[in-house]
Amino acid sequence: MLTPPEDSRTIPLTVLSAGGHGKRSSVTCRYRCGDACGHDVPNTSSNPYFGDVVAQVMSRRGALRAAAVVGITGGALAALGSTAAADEVATQGGRPGHGPGHGNGPGKPDRPIPGTDYESVQPNTQDAIVVPEGYEHNVVIRWGDPVLEGAPEFDFENQTAAAQERQFGYNCDFAGLIPLDGAGRRNLLVVNHEYSTEPFMFRGYDEANPTEEQVKIAWAAHGLSVVLAERDTRKGGLSTRRSRFNRRITATTEFEVRGPAAGSDLLKTSADPTGTRVLGTLNNCAGSVTPWGTVLSGEENFNQYFGNADQITDPDQSAKLARYGMSGGASERLWERFDPRFDIAQELNETHRFGWVVEIDPHDPDSTPIKHTALGRFKHEGAAVRVAEDGRVVAYSGDDERFDYIYKFVSKNRMKKGESKHARRHNMTLLDEGTLYVARFTGDSPVEEIDGSGTLPADGEFGGTGEWIPLAEGDKSFVPGMTAEEVYIYTRLAGDVVGATKMDRPEDIEPNPVTGSVYAALTNNTNRGTEGAAAADEANPRNTNKHGHVLEWTERHNDATATRFTWKLLLVCGDPESPDTYFAGFDKSQVSPITSPDNVAFDTHGNLWVSTDSTGALGINDGLYSVPVQGADRGHLKLFLTVPAGGETCGPVITEDLVTVCVQHPGEVDGASIEEPASNWPDRGDSQPRPSVVSVWRVGRNGRVGRIGE
Ligand code: FEO
Ligand code: CA
Ligand code: CA
Repeated sequence: MLTPPEDSRTIPLTVLSAGGHGKRSSVTCRYRCGDACGHDVPNTSSNPYFGDVVAQVMSRRGALRAAAVVGITGGALAALGSTAAADEVATQGGRPGHGPGHGNGPGKPDRPIPGTDYESVQPNTQDAIVVPEGYEHNVVIRWGDPVLEGAPEFDFENQTAAAQERQFGYNCDFAGLIPLDGAGRRNLLVVNHEYSTEPFMFRGYDEANPTEEQVKIAWAAHGLSVVLAERDTRKGGLSTRRSRFNRRITATTEFEVRGPAAGSDLLKTSADPTGTRVLGTLNNCAGSVTPWGTVLSGEENFNQYFGNADQITDPDQSAKLARYGMSGGASERLWERFDPRFDIAQELNETHRFGWVVEIDPHDPDSTPIKHTALGRFKHEGAAVRVAEDGRVVAYSGDDERFDYIYKFVSKNRMKKGESKHARRHNMTLLDEGTLYVARFTGDSPVEEIDGSGTLPADGEFGGTGEWIPLAEGDKSFVPGMTAEEVYIYTRLAGDVVGATKMDRPEDIEPNPVTGSVYAALTNNTNRGTEGAAAADEANPRNTNKHGHVLEWTERHNDATATRFTWKLLLVCGDPESPDTYFAGFDKSQVSPITSPDNVAFDTHGNLWVSTDSTGALGINDGLYSVPVQGADRGHLKLFLTVPAGGETCGPVITEDLVTVCVQHPGEVDGASIEEPASNWPDRGDSQPRPSVVSVWRVGRNGRVGRIGE
């Protein structure tokens, strides 16, 4: 058990201000996202007026395919503000009394929902994990800990690529816990390693001249880890074991490209003339465990690894690269010096081979991981699956960029039940065929009531209707001027053409397993409403949005495959004392402050858990929060845990008696260095900080493990 340092401090809620810059440390911004927020917004589209789109389609093609007519007409009506269309959706979206925000149903008294009965943690700036009274935690696995046989113990001063290839990678983000037995005692722990932060990894790192060994260590520090993790079901805590399942996937592991764009000319390179085999996965951020026991992981800010976009002279190619955030010269890490595939001037198509949702089968350490082209190419935060009543599966995914979009994929085929190898093999093909959609949100309040201040409109909430606009299905494109292949590979451009809604950085998305409603974290967007940028709308209602919000939608008839939905904002984040915040109407004097929601997860009771990514915006450490979404406690946000200074809380997993989180980039604050670390977590003393996974449990009666929040 770790003890907090004596100089740690907690901050009373009353001294919180909504001040701060709402920015990460500059090192984190550069190494994690390629300093995305320091660059121009890549989405410069004006999202043409929907009537124009329909007119273009009619004139170009003469006649529309029936499917396209259905999709585009729906979009056009909503864009034109057709009250008839909106009314139809409003009355048909979700069953009355069913789903969130409708209490516990007729005849039942509203009662607090179990799972969140704990004393909130005070916001703080400690260099420690802080958990509620009566809870304990341990560190499960740290950067550099052995994963594979033969891996040496971590030695910060003597790192090698060969060692890192067998050790736990850097900067863990998503974590999935897949039970191997009914009691959840033996589990596969699957973790994403989003990025490397070389100045904090290598003493004396020269940004202008990284060594080949440092670059190869970084390649090995990316990707994913699979490791067997056992629970102590009596005393609590998760700990790792060596096992035949343990696996490292890195920036050089071979992936199979699947789905409708596999083999496309746009995916062919000199090393892979088939366009079906890619080495590595990069910037894996959020993810999910599928209902068939595999893991989906989003390749997010992949653009930052590619150099020399400025040498491309073809204006069309340059525009496409720029839409994906590639316009500069040398890349941050200079990988192009060590492998020409990262040099856009030499291998432009290599950029097309990243930005996908990848699928890993952790049950089979010899399996070839997959890149799924049917889910489109963008800065996938992650992807999460819901199974429709008819057995088709739906995958939701956000494109984490200021003013980018939310997407949904609906499979053509149905899921096979059961945990057999045969069923899993079938289910791993579900994301190969189907329809890709992008979301358009329409507010139900008069536009003049959405003034960008966060003031609620007269009807008392931010909400409205929405539709899923089809982009492509197999080799059929629904986007004027783009082939299906182009839609999958330049998906952002397809979203621009059809008039998708520009969102405030869509991060993690998760369906509620109890109600079926879907929740998305919109982390922040300080460019909203600034000169030349899109102004506030009802789904993104604050200009210079520093603290983000959480969006909830319910598909029409609660059918996951529907193309219409209704939506509401559940949370408008920030200091609850600030008038521009909203906690589903719950008494704001009782809720915890929150900024920059990033990951979303559910417990078995259907409570939402939200982890945050924004040290600085409220001057408090990042944390993990719980919030009921039904009944009288809907909106009662409570802080469950905080992570050490400079760290980000990621990848929450909530089981009935265990919570795990990843602590990403502890100690990454401006001014910190290897010589003067801002955090000594988790090893203490004068050690360097190490990104790690943590597990938390409640000490129940007789010292035995208790249930979380009960
Ligand atoms: Fe890697 Fe969008 O967070
Ligand atoms: Ca409204
Ligand atoms: Ca994230």
